[in-house]
Amino acid sequence: MTAQQPAAGEVSPREQSSSELSASETTALPLAGSARGTAGTVLITGTTSGVGLHALKSLVDRGWTVVTANRDPVRAAAAADSLAIDSARVHHLRIDIGDLDSVRVGVETLVPSLGLPLDVLVINAAIYQPRLKQPQWSPQGYELSMATNHLGHFLLIQLLLQDLKRSSHPSRRVVIMGTVTANSKELGGKIPIPAPADLGDLSGFKAGFKAPIAMASGKSFKPGKAYKDSKLCNMITTQELHRRLHTSTGIVFSSLYPGCVADSPLFRHTPPAFQTIFPWFQKNITGGYVSQALAGERLAQVVADPAFSVSGVHWSWGNRQKKDGKQFGQELSDKASHPATAEAMWTTSLQLVGLA
Ligand SMILES: NC(=O)c1ccc[n+]([C@@H]2O[C@H](COP(=O)([O-])OP(=O)(O)OC[C@H]3O[C@@H](n4cnc5c(N)ncnc54)[C@H](OP(=O)(O)O)[C@@H]3O)[C@@H](O)[C@H]2O)c1
Repeated sequence: MTAQQPAAGEVSPREQSSSELSASETTALPLAGSARGTAGTVLITGTTSGVGLHALKSLVDRGWTVVTANRDPVRAAAAADSLAIDSARVHHLRIDIGDLDSVRVGVETLVPSLGLPLDVLVINAAIYQPRLKQPQWSPQGYELSMATNHLGHFLLIQLLLQDLKRSSHPSRRVVIMGTVTANSKELGGKIPIPAPADLGDLSGFKAGFKAPIAMASGKSFKPGKAYKDSKLCNMITTQELHRRLHTSTGIVFSSLYPGCVADSPLFRHTPPAFQTIFPWFQKNITGGYVSQALAGERLAQVVADPAFSVSGVHWSWGNRQKKDGKQFGQELSDKASHPATAEAMWTTSLQLVGLA
């Protein structure tokens, strides 16, 4: 249906850019123009910058209606405006993925108030804070990078599955951003700095994952590893969704590594010298670099293109980018495909997000 009424927690980009909305503003403003695209409706998390912002542009350009979930929808709207994205096709919702209560409000109130079907869900938002000395904690008391990158998204997926099942779109999908550093089948996943991704026996999750426990494995806090572990959870989640639900629902579940987006704001918490050297290194030495625009386009392809309608695949374009390189299904590490680890991660994640 066409959403003509404002939804609580939503801002319209054109309206907000000329207003004085603060980041804490929750009152919706009227939508500008027709809000229903013809290609389908996709909800994507984290579109203020980087891959998510550029995927938003690619999807709108392809005729999709896009619902964005950001902790600051005013900033999200300004970012979309900066790329001249057609605001008539975009709804910006205030959902803090690191806060389970915010995810619940988003799914139970904000998304339904749009009155749109949900055809595709994209899990993109993430934080990477490799220099933290001490863990940060989510409102529910979970280590913040795991809470944001995995747990909030895990809850979002579980709560939106019913909407995806109801969709009449011919190709319903859940697309999850993985990464190379959490897949030890690839060179980038073998680098032991600070340590490879490893959930161990998930004793940290099993023990409730509350302070002082900050790692899924229950071992001592390593911020860079916390990011890798959370992305490993993202890729395991994709595989488990496929295994448990693809046949019964027909929904296509896939993850991807779009290449090394070495100059994205994801690296904003790394040392300044790293932020200069890393993109140069990826462009000139490894050849792994992809631009934010190309990574966004690849994410949009996995959402929309028929070539990506295979479930259970981790898509990659390789570690070394080639001109006109084609996507392929990248094999995942044992840690990402071990049945007992996957079962334990799924069960404990359900408990941690309050769904067990
Ligand atoms: N960069 C790479 O080389 C690379 C490679 C492989 C995979 N990836 C993956 O690609 C995805 C996007 O990364 P990126 O490089 O585009 O980084 P980015 O530019 O930093 O984008 C991250 C997005 O997540 C949002 N976000 C963070 N915390 C949030 C929260 N609590 N609630 C809602 N949104 C939140 C950010 O919004 P704020 O502005 O509010 O922080 C931002 O919009 C991530 O999943 C990352 O793991 C990146």
